[in-house]
Amino acid sequence: MTMTNQPQQVGDPRIAHFNGQLLPIDEIRISPLDRGFIFGDGVYEVIPVYGGVMLGAREHFERLQRSMDEIQLRNPHTVDEWISVTQALLEHHPGNQAVYIQVTRGAPKKRDHVIPKDLEPTVFMMSNPLASPSREAVEKGVACVTHRDFRWEKCHIKSTSLLGNVLARQISADTGATETILIRDGNVTEASASNVFVVKNGVVAAPPQDNLILLGITYQLLVRLAKEGAVKLEIRPIPEPELRSADEVWLSSSTKEVLAVTTIDGKPVGNGKPGPLFRRMHALYQEHKEKLAAAIA
Ligand code: PDD
Repeated sequence: MTMTNQPQQVGDPRIAHFNGQLLPIDEIRISPLDRGFIFGDGVYEVIPVYGGVMLGAREHFERLQRSMDEIQLRNPHTVDEWISVTQALLEHHPGNQAVYIQVTRGAPKKRDHVIPKDLEPTVFMMSNPLASPSREAVEKGVACVTHRDFRWEKCHIKSTSLLGNVLARQISADTGATETILIRDGNVTEASASNVFVVKNGVVAAPPQDNLILLGITYQLLVRLAKEGAVKLEIRPIPEPELRSADEVWLSSSTKEVLAVTTIDGKPVGNGKPGPLFRRMHALYQEHKEKLAAAIA
């Protein structure tokens, strides 16, 4: 695959990336036979960008590689190539952005479940303004509901087959809540599009880094920031009763950063306000973002 970028006027917000070309998004044509369309046979990443600087670019592209390895999909780019094609796209999208990167298995001649050999993967990338959590969400926290985790057993793959996550998210959307926290076999796994942390008596707990969750880049960053900031954090199974009796519950993701959950299924978490450890982690996260921007500037 070539990585030539078509000369385009820099700063055109319609520009997206398709198989090595920069094109207005409405001019991109994808085959209906593409296995991403037919089977959801693909993987993706979402990377937050602050003032033109990607947060955790290398970690995101390394996770993309792991997802591709899991589904036996050939990676058309090295991590460094991915970073440079993403930066070329970002020239058209200044400021705070969320870059979406998707690689599907490609378009064979006919529909067949069996993975075809020598198929050229389809690469699609777009960038949209990053909708960071509102000040109100940070100061007051957000509402969540819970549900049984009815997804498959390979949640560690960041797959574009997201029907389970879409249906899980809709359960919270229907009640106006921000997320659906999922419970599998009595333990908290994650939420429909974010990871979950639980705090009790000054100790943070994060679910095991296994096949039942997507190991978030934000989750890993929070674990690191907690360690550096001397916040006690344990990685272990979190039984449902612990979620319901927690002092604090948080969500994390590339777009949500870290957010306090202040009600679960309509009942307050702790005293119903974002707790002290949330405020500490939120401050450490903001500091990390500022340092990152300053290091590049
Ligand atoms: N979602 N778990 C699930 C199921 C997710 O979909 C996500 C991210 C996360 C958090 O991962 P990270 O910290 O690397 O963003 C955990 C992205 C943002 C999305 O699908 O839009």
